[in-house]
Amino acid sequence: MNELLTAVTVCAHAKNFSHWRDEARRLLAQRVPPWQVQWQNSTGENETLFNNAMTAPAQASAAIARVPRALLQTLQAAANFRADDRWAFLYKILWRWQNGDRAVLSVADEDGNRLHAMVKAVEREVHYMHAYLRFRERAPELGAPRFVAWFEPSHDVLEEVAEHFARRMGNVSWLIATPDATMAWDGRTLMQGPPSASGPLQVDDEGERLWLTYYRSIFNPARTNARAMEMHMPVRYWKNLPESKLIPGLVSDAVLGGRCVGQVSAVGARHGTSVHVSAEAAQPERPDQGTLNQCRRCDLWRNATQAVAGEGPRKAKVMLVGEQPGDQEDLAGKPFVGPAGHLLDRALQAAGLDRNDVYVTNAVKHFKWEPRGKRRMHKTPGQREIDACMLWLDEEIAQVKPEVVVALGSTALKSLMKSSKVSLTKMLGEPITVGDRHIITTYHPSYVLRVPGDDAKAAAFENMVHAFRQAKTYA
Ligand code: URA
Repeated sequence: MNELLTAVTVCAHAKNFSHWRDEARRLLAQRVPPWQVQWQNSTGENETLFNNAMTAPAQASAAIARVPRALLQTLQAAANFRADDRWAFLYKILWRWQNGDRAVLSVADEDGNRLHAMVKAVEREVHYMHAYLRFRERAPELGAPRFVAWFEPSHDVLEEVAEHFARRMGNVSWLIATPDATMAWDGRTLMQGPPSASGPLQVDDEGERLWLTYYRSIFNPARTNARAMEMHMPVRYWKNLPESKLIPGLVSDAVLGGRCVGQVSAVGARHGTSVHVSAEAAQPERPDQGTLNQCRRCDLWRNATQAVAGEGPRKAKVMLVGEQPGDQEDLAGKPFVGPAGHLLDRALQAAGLDRNDVYVTNAVKHFKWEPRGKRRMHKTPGQREIDACMLWLDEEIAQVKPEVVVALGSTALKSLMKSSKVSLTKMLGEPITVGDRHIITTYHPSYVLRVPGDDAKAAAFENMVHAFRQAKTYA
């Protein structure tokens, strides 16, 4: 070891990583241990013993092992961590590594642990700066740069982030100002400059107002979680985020009731149609939806005697889908056993289909009714109930795997097509193929019973028979 260097403190200078790397290489060559080096964060002229060491005769140098690229990258990332002793610390890591102490890179090692924590903190800061830097557009008459941004990073990540934005923003000019330096991009070259004297930007223009309006409208109080928000968007960045002035108000609105409305108060207060969310989409996924009779996906179970499942061979080629159980089906727990069922049987017979060979079910499994005197009058199920029950019909179809499904009336058609917009009259007599399944549409038996006029009744009945004949050809 160079004798001169064993007893004295050596000063080394590092302004940035590449300076540090050069200095570190020389120190290693001179075998100067880290505890003897005093690092200074400058490029001072009054060089000291270290300068002498650098000019020391060649024989005083020791061989330096090649530093692997991964280690160099780790050191470079850690060098962006702001700490007074960062250069000394990095040199200590390098020294230990050069002396064969590979544990220095382990998280179980005190130094290794600190090194990894530094890299992580820097990476996090880069991520935050990508996410929370807000460019503001300047008036065109002011010329370049077109966009400016102010940010106060906690670590030295400006250069890295500037490279990211240079790649992202093409030939649009911008300038990012921080308390320590500025970086400007003219569309082709990145230029570093002195710190900005202007400090945080004060902007109140059209663009800013548009952004705030947009932010307000996408803020969803129903999903507000202030703690999670602060975790993902640390409060220290708020002061330079234009939207941050909105956040406390939006959060307190949410806590005080906006959550119930599920939208910002301005939107919630608006009159107009409510947005329909299908029961399927609105309900949380449940691994087990229980049995059909336990179904509470909509309110129909409250007034029904029981849920009515489909009936027929488990592998039927033809499936008939009606609307919902009627009064008698509700009591019997079987589909199509009342007057509509009798008419259905006649139509099947006329088409040459045996009811025992077809699977008969309904789009909605609970009887929807309203009292009239002592009678329970049928009420057409709404889309919400159709949606809620779709799961059960889908399950029946998946199990039976029919070749052809006959939609008896509009409710069945809506459920099978998964759309409230389909028109029965347009689909009558028009077999369609959905996936590997054929769907044939015809009237509901109750319609045939109800429709006034013998001719209309006969025509509707004939339509059903025709549909069943078509279904038979697929079977
Ligand atoms: N109407 C239907 O749609 N289904 C039945 O089960 C009974 C009447």
